[in-house]
Amino acid sequence: MSAVSGKDRITSSKGSIRGESLQVLVIGSGGREHAIVKKAASSSLVSEVHCAPGNAGIARQAVCHPVADSDIPGIVALARKTGAGLVVIGPEAPLCAGLADELAAAGFKVFGPGAAAAMLEGSKGFAKEVMLAAGVPTAGFARFAEYASARAHIAQISFPVVVKANGLAAGKGVMIATAMEEAEDALSRCFVERSFGDAGLDVLVEECLIGHECSVLALCDGDTIKPLEPAQDYKRIYDGDRGPNTGGMGCYSPVPRVPPGLVDEIIETVHRPVVAELKRRGIEFKGVLYAGLMLTAAGPKVLEFNTRFGDPETQAILPRLENDLVELMLACAEGALSEHELSWRQQRCVTVIMASAGYPRSSSKGDVIEGLDLDGGLPGVEVYHAGTAEADGKFVTAGGRVLAISALASNFRESRQKAYQAVAKVRFDGMQFRTDIAAEAAEDR
Ligand code: AMP
Ligand code: GLY
Repeated sequence: MSAVSGKDRITSSKGSIRGESLQVLVIGSGGREHAIVKKAASSSLVSEVHCAPGNAGIARQAVCHPVADSDIPGIVALARKTGAGLVVIGPEAPLCAGLADELAAAGFKVFGPGAAAAMLEGSKGFAKEVMLAAGVPTAGFARFAEYASARAHIAQISFPVVVKANGLAAGKGVMIATAMEEAEDALSRCFVERSFGDAGLDVLVEECLIGHECSVLALCDGDTIKPLEPAQDYKRIYDGDRGPNTGGMGCYSPVPRVPPGLVDEIIETVHRPVVAELKRRGIEFKGVLYAGLMLTAAGPKVLEFNTRFGDPETQAILPRLENDLVELMLACAEGALSEHELSWRQQRCVTVIMASAGYPRSSSKGDVIEGLDLDGGLPGVEVYHAGTAEADGKFVTAGGRVLAISALASNFRESRQKAYQAVAKVRFDGMQFRTDIAAEAAEDR
């Protein structure tokens, strides 16, 4: 955060004078939001960063306000109270609920799409429909609103298949079935047990794609699309990709198997046609369009879209970004992204997630976290807080994913070593982390 005097005012790319008294309001409370807050706090345009609701670590760089991200009138009122010159929405639920629309209607500049565009994430069926119309490569699928017809369909197809709840299910609504009984079980969880609520009463049965997964995120201002560097997420809880799916247990960026030429191809065959198809339907996309992809033998195919920064992708991508993030996010909100070039540090980033006991099925609250005074102690290391709180002057666990520790170094071997050195300094009861994050990349180079 910098207190910049009047003489240092800069001229924005649109030619108008932009004061550096910008108040930025970030919505959310995870490691992703901590990474955004830290970047925003280092922006020369920004005088103060606010966050709602934030967490104990975010409170070190931002003023935290106890307003839930689901409280749309409360967030609009907070944007007014803080005089926010930019509101950045981290998580998917408020985007799908229309927070960006309400803020924009109240006159605020918003980084994050409106509800109609966020449907790309909120409804897998809508995403498929848009991809079909736009000719974007994705897994073949059929959509069902009741058990009997879905059951009849799986009786005729070959396995494995993927059964997906249509709506938001916190990453848990995707089930890969290798045989008939498993597929029946998955359909039963959706339609009979109603494990995913209404989200599971509308089901997609998809072709199972084989290959390596990767995430390609891009900034978008409605027209211009600029890719962020690719990232490799680790979804399973245990080493060797075993155990249940999580929100993400680690990440690295860039991804050697996704060179710049492939990123450009993905932008041209996925992001650009999707944004154009939305535009044709009168829907503008502003914010981050995140494509989760399978690199198949027949080329990259889309697994899913997210309409926001990924978590933990953001914690591995942003430390390498040389640009002023706030300037880029404002450009997205104002439709001026074409005036900016993105530039990246050559260093490699590795991010390791530390999770609490019981995650992902449950989480443990109140375990004292020791060793966290290291923040900044190791050069090139960033400690991002996710599920943390402060009690009696100490940091304690307050959620499933507790910390994201990112390390930058000139090659993956060193950044990996550095990240795990930092992890080794932290201790809390029941802590879980994977020991194989970026191991494959470290072998590569
Ligand atoms: P999603 O929430 O749609 O990204 O799905 C979560 C995870 O399920 C993905 O990261 C993949 O590992 C897996 N997955 C989803 N759809 C497919 C598919 N069609 N083929 C193979 N794996 C899939
Ligand atoms: N890391 C996957 C996600 O943010 O959804």
